[in-house]
Parts: sequence; C-alpha cells; structure tokens
Amino acid sequence: MVREWDPRTASSAEIASLVDMLNAVLVADLPQDPPWRENFLREYLSEVMPGERRISWVAQADPATGGGSGPILGHVHVLLLGDIGVLEVLVHPSVRRAGLGRDLVRLAARRVYQEGFQSIGVEVVGDTPSVAFYQALGFSREYVETRSVLDLSAVDWSALADMAAGVGVGYQVQFCPGGPPDDLIEAYARAKAEVRDVDDGELRPSSYDPQRLRDSLDTLHRRGMKPYIVLATNERTGEVAGLTEVVVPAQHPTRADQYDTIVVQEHRGYGIDRAIKARMLLELRSAEPELTEVQTWNAQANEAMLKVNAELGYRPDREWCEYSVDVAQLVHRLDAPR
Ligand SMILES: CC(C)(COP(=O)(O)OP(=O)(O)OC[C@H]1O[C@@H](n2cnc3c(N)ncnc32)[C@H](O)[C@@H]1OP(=O)(O)O)[C@@H](O)C(=O)NCCC(=O)NCCS
Repeated sequence: MVREWDPRTASSAEIASLVDMLNAVLVADLPQDPPWRENFLREYLSEVMPGERRISWVAQADPATGGGSGPILGHVHVLLLGDIGVLEVLVHPSVRRAGLGRDLVRLAARRVYQEGFQSIGVEVVGDTPSVAFYQALGFSREYVETRSVLDLSAVDWSALADMAAGVGVGYQVQFCPGGPPDDLIEAYARAKAEVRDVDDGELRPSSYDPQRLRDSLDTLHRRGMKPYIVLATNERTGEVAGLTEVVVPAQHPTRADQYDTIVVQEHRGYGIDRAIKARMLLELRSAEPELTEVQTWNAQANEAMLKVNAELGYRPDREWCEYSVDVAQLVHRLDAPR
C-alpha cells in the first residue's frame, strides 16, 4: 500500500519504522556508514529552503499481510527546486526486485510532471543496486564525484597542528561555530560567488548571495544540522580569502559532512586550504567529542583539493554520481506496458 505521507504529522511509530528501513538499506548498501538516529529525522524530512517544496510517499505492508500501519518498506520523496525535482527512493532490502522501486518513481515522476517541472535529478551511490536501477529507468549520468572518508582515530594531531599554523603572513584564521559572524556574511557570500564552480554538484547548490546564505544556515539549523565554519580573512582588506564548512547532522553525529572549501583565486598558493581544513579538524575534536569520521565529496578533476585531502588523511571511499532524466520521457516510459 503506497500513500502520500507528511513527515510533519506522521506518528512516532512511522518515524521509527522509517529509520529502521533506512538503517536496513545502509547495512545492505553502505555497511561502513554509521546508522541514522531518530533525532531530528522529522525535521530533516520536512524543513526546506524558502521557495522549495518536498513531497513524500511511503509504502507499507499490505493490510492482508501486515496491516496498513505495518512497517514502512519503501519511501520516496522529491524536492522541487528551480526547474528540477530531486528524487530519493529507498526500498527495504527484503522486498527488492519486485517492482516497488519502479512504482515509487512512477508516482513521484507523475507528480513532478503535473507540477510542470522539466527534469528529475538523483544522487546515485557507486557500487550499489541504484546504479542498475536508474539506468534501467533511462536516467543518464551527468556528474561524478568521489566520496572520501577521514577516520579521526588515525589522524596525526601534532602534524595537523603544524598544518593549521602553516598559513602565509597577512591572513587571520578564525573558527565560527554556527555560521559566519553577521558582519562577515556579505564578504562570505562574495567569496562563494567568486568560486562558484569549485567542486560543487548541481544537486547541492551553494548560497551565493547574503540572503540566500542566511536562509541556508537557518534551514540547516531547523533540519538539525549544525554548521561549523573556519574562515581565513585578509588582514589588510578584511575580505574573506578562504572558507571551509563542516556540518554535524543530529541524525548521524559520529560522521560529519565536509561541505564547500573555497580559496578565492588571488589568495591561492599561501597554504590557506590546508590550514583552514586542519584548523577545522582540531576545533571539531573538542566541539564534537562524539565525532569519529568526516566525509567529503570532490570532483575527480579537482586534483589540488584531492591532494590536500590525502595529506589530511582522507581515503577515497566510492563514486557518488548525479543522474538525471527528462520528466516527460520518464513518465511515458514508466506508463508504457512492459
Ligand atoms: C535502487 C532501489 C530503489 C531499487 O528498488 P527495487 O524495488 O528493488 O527496484 P525494482 O524492483 O522496481 O527494479 C526495477 C528495475 O531496476 C533494475 N534493478 C533494480 N535493482 C537491480 C539490481 N540489484 N541489479 C540489476 N538491476 C537492478 C532492474 O532492471 C529492475 O527490473 P527487473 O527486476 O524487472 O529486472 C533499491 O535497491 C534501494 O532502495 N536502494 C538503496 C538506494 C540508496 O539510495 N542507497 C544508498 C544510500 S542509503
């Protein structure tokens, strides 16, 4: 039984069932990833940026076999932003290859089509069944990144302290838990706007103007995701020369997500990238004692960033791809007799 589902009003039993399903998926597909917790899951699934909408459905056991309020065995949601719907589908490993994934995509695709959107995008994790699934549905690969994971127990902290101190003269490095200070928001947004093509995929758009940056920080907080920032500022001009962002999600607080790292073009070559990332790890060690790992995503062509990450101890984990499809074609294909 599949029905539209609103995480805001869902029962706690449904939220618990969803997290059980998600963790069964992780065990099957990404066994090294930490399990998710229920903490802030409702908010994670319902809070969005201004102007965006998320529509969700769940599949539960059939009433004849387990009751309409039986365990959640499938989930799909689509985030409508700009002219694209970003899709996420999960099917419990015990009921895969029975057509449920396809049915869930059909439902979401029809809605995205009715709402007038052009295309659907999805993140596809390498070496998991999703690769064959989305290919079978006619999606094509647009963009590939590598996910890397840093194990904090293997970090050489004194070497890291040296890296953090190794920034060229004329720059000041500061740690900003919660987000950039208000008086630096504009300079921060300017730095991001200048380097908008650095290791960013289309499905994770950055925030380039001050208002969007404020909205984005606010949305992160509402979703239970704690942002930490390290900034390098030019002592002479006060401009933001470099920044790095890490988010610690309440849903899996032992593994943080490294978001953007940016060094503005004219400030490259002064060790800023290495120094701000090293400083971030040193700060997180005391700010987040539960933290054991940090993960990050980089374009494979971004050799400079990959080199610094390797020096810090990040190890490549797997491919992380973006696939997309034209909505009308997808609806047509899914509605055609097989
Ligand atoms: C991808 C996923 C949604 C597929 O769900 P499903 O219900 O098994 O998919 P379907 O039964 O509808 O499969 C449709 C088609 O996709 C293809 N497909 C799906 N799984 C496949 C697999 N393991 N190998 C090869 N082809 C596969 C097949 O062509 C299949 O049609 P067929 O069974 O008639 O041959 C499911 O495996 C899943 O939830 N994966 C986890 C998703 C994820 O995001 N994981 C990582 C982050 S937590």
